[in-house]
Amino acid sequence: MSSTPSAQPIDPPGPRDLTPEDFNHQMRDNPITFFAGLAKAHGSLVFLPQVNAYVVSDPDLFAHILRDSERGFVKSPRIMEGFRSSFGDGLALMGGEEWKQRRQLYSPLTSQTYRVRSQEALQRIVDETLDEWQSSCGVPLNMTAAMKRYAMRVAVEFLFSVDIGDEASKMVDALDTLHAYCSYLIFDSKAREEIAAGTSAMHDRFTRARAILDGIAQNIIDERAKETAQGGGDLLSMFLSARDPSSGQRMSEREVREELVLLFFQAHDPSGNSLACTVYLLARHPEVIERIRSEFARKIGDRMPSIKDLSKLAYMRQVFDESLRVCPPTYSMSRISVDEVEYRGYRINRDATIFLSQWNLHHHPDLWPQPDVFDPDRFSPEASKARHSCAFIPFGMGPRTCAGAQMVRVESELLIPLLVKRYQPTVSPDFEPYPRGRLFTTWEPDIEVTLQPVRA
Ligand code: HEM
Repeated sequence: MSSTPSAQPIDPPGPRDLTPEDFNHQMRDNPITFFAGLAKAHGSLVFLPQVNAYVVSDPDLFAHILRDSERGFVKSPRIMEGFRSSFGDGLALMGGEEWKQRRQLYSPLTSQTYRVRSQEALQRIVDETLDEWQSSCGVPLNMTAAMKRYAMRVAVEFLFSVDIGDEASKMVDALDTLHAYCSYLIFDSKAREEIAAGTSAMHDRFTRARAILDGIAQNIIDERAKETAQGGGDLLSMFLSARDPSSGQRMSEREVREELVLLFFQAHDPSGNSLACTVYLLARHPEVIERIRSEFARKIGDRMPSIKDLSKLAYMRQVFDESLRVCPPTYSMSRISVDEVEYRGYRINRDATIFLSQWNLHHHPDLWPQPDVFDPDRFSPEASKARHSCAFIPFGMGPRTCAGAQMVRVESELLIPLLVKRYQPTVSPDFEPYPRGRLFTTWEPDIEVTLQPVRA
């Protein structure tokens, strides 16, 4: 890759006749199938000249762009603005020095000590969640909603040391409304006009949902102010004690509240969806369930595993990785090119929007033979060694890599083996949810799974 173009780079292939209106329509309808179709027809680097955009499915180019996320390829201001107007500001939407300082506050999340401090609370939430599902045995359970509630409870406990219990349901509903509103702002060209004219019903729903979430975030902050223990180094205590190195100022209450609301969303939606997908895939593959049970029986037995124990469950990890590959919860990331660059004889324009399609990467037939087949053995140590190092990046890579990746693993790799130890998940043979690209990957209709108690 070079930023000083050599002998006449050319435009990558792509549909030259795709108008901005067609593009907007496709993005509103389903960017996952749109990007997949473009890669199939034109290859791993596709140019859409009329909107100055590129769709990338090539692992080397992915790596290059994501590693250069703070200088050469920055986050798109238009998309970030849509998020900001819906959720408020936060780490994921910042850039430059502001981002660097905020990112440092997240450093505890990568430490094992931090994860272990939440162990008891996490084990309790897992137990209560599995108990709660007992009463739904034998009838289809909305796994998408159930897993989002689980992920919401874990996130608030893990990040802010608060058990929100039954409030999780209210939060998930309100965040679903913010998700729909943000998609509307980003993908619907009439949105701003309708909002300004006061004719947007979506905007009214958004205002109510946002007030609920602001209220919950403010309560968490107020309760912390009354405590003497101050959360023992959790993420909230990092936010509340941080000081700007140049001005010495603390984060304002509003800044903390917005960071919390954005995190409520980021920490529950992709996690909930990926857990629901994992259970769905397992229901379709009872032979994989048997292997998870057998590994658990050999390595853990009848006790509740600790967080440290999870490293013993190597097959469980392969299963979760394969689920993240087949059903990547973030289907695409986007960046803007700061300068014109050349890649393997192709020109990438300045100020272009670059869509890095994780969905395409994880289904690339050159990297993943029979890409639609769910096969956890792809992640055996031998098979993984032989693969391109950037073929699998569910959590992104480079400086902007996911701040919650370790947390996702813990909450998922603890819940799933205990779930299949206690229940047998099944799905009706004609139930085929399909992936729809919104802000994250969603499945339509919601994933429904029937659980049956496993006889000892
Ligand atoms: C299966 C679940 C999840 C997936 C697949 C996922 C995926 C991602 C990806 C791909 C990015 C990078 C986006 C980019 O480069 O444009 C990201 C960023 C981020 N994620 Fe996650 N995420 C998940 C769960 C979580 C959780 C539980 C948290 C809670 C702490 C979290 C917090 C964040 C934050 C704060 C960022 C922004 C990082 C930055 O810009 O420096 N995510 N996530």
